[in-house]
Amino acid sequence: MDVTIAADRAGLVKARDALGPGSIALVPTMGALHEGHRSLIRLAREHADHVVVSVFVNPLQFGPGEDFSRYPRTFDADLAVCEEEGVGVVFAPSAEDMYLPDRQVEVSAGPMGGVAEGAFRPGHFDGVLTVVLKLFNLVRPDVAVFGQKDAQQLALIRRMVADLDVPVSIVGAPTVREPDGLALSSRNRYLSEADRRTALALSRALRAGVARAGTAGPAGILDAAQAVLEEAARFDPPLLLDYLILADPATFGPVGDDHRGEAILAVAAKVGATRLIDNMPLTLS
Ligand code: PAJ
Repeated sequence: MDVTIAADRAGLVKARDALGPGSIALVPTMGALHEGHRSLIRLAREHADHVVVSVFVNPLQFGPGEDFSRYPRTFDADLAVCEEEGVGVVFAPSAEDMYLPDRQVEVSAGPMGGVAEGAFRPGHFDGVLTVVLKLFNLVRPDVAVFGQKDAQQLALIRRMVADLDVPVSIVGAPTVREPDGLALSSRNRYLSEADRRTALALSRALRAGVARAGTAGPAGILDAAQAVLEEAARFDPPLLLDYLILADPATFGPVGDDHRGEAILAVAAKVGATRLIDNMPLTLS
């Protein structure tokens, strides 16, 4: 069956009900779909009878001076991906339709929204959680799929679902990478060839840190990753580091030096005009 396009909230509710019986999986996106998004859609299909994909560049999660106005918008190509992957409904509303002109209430991400990525993007996670809760309420999915690529976002969505009793099962999907290690991102299309060479230091630094997890503690892991990032700070263009953190997966605060078990090594940096994030999970023994 062909994919149905819902261009506003009223159209979505109709298209959703027209899907008929069976479970629904939601894949929220901001479009500019790549192989990472495609892997989420495939995973969604394994978890439910119908898949709904939202394509919405959410103004609430962009700060002043961020790339909202130039964020890539490639709707026709996105639709073709959704058709190929057997998506039932693509929800692509306008910002005017999504947000009431007199709206007041937002979801607060709490303390976990102010650390790591949240310390560099004030209000970002409030904007993410607000749109995700709205999408959950509109689509009423059984399952929703999110990527580990945005590890703090995924952790916060799990937190919201637990703290606010949202009746949706959250599925996390592994990060899809280019053969050279660069994590796929809609923002990669901003990168020049030289930018891209510098950007490879992100995944290289994470791998260097992860490689030390069996023998070193948090300080040794961070040192190994930091050395790679410092080298890339001397490239042309340089890698400009925002943060490197070994985070507790439950809170996204930095782990103590005596921490054992799961942790997430996460990095954010600017390369030219582009800001990139990446992370890898590891186990401290
Ligand atoms: P967007 O950046 O479009 O990402 C949509 C989903 O794709 C997210 O769950 C993200 O983690 C996942 N994703 C991105 N790159 C990936 C990769 N290389 N491998 C696997 N999954 C990847 O994240 C957002 O949009 C927004 O914040 C959103 C949740 C839609 C709310 O507006």
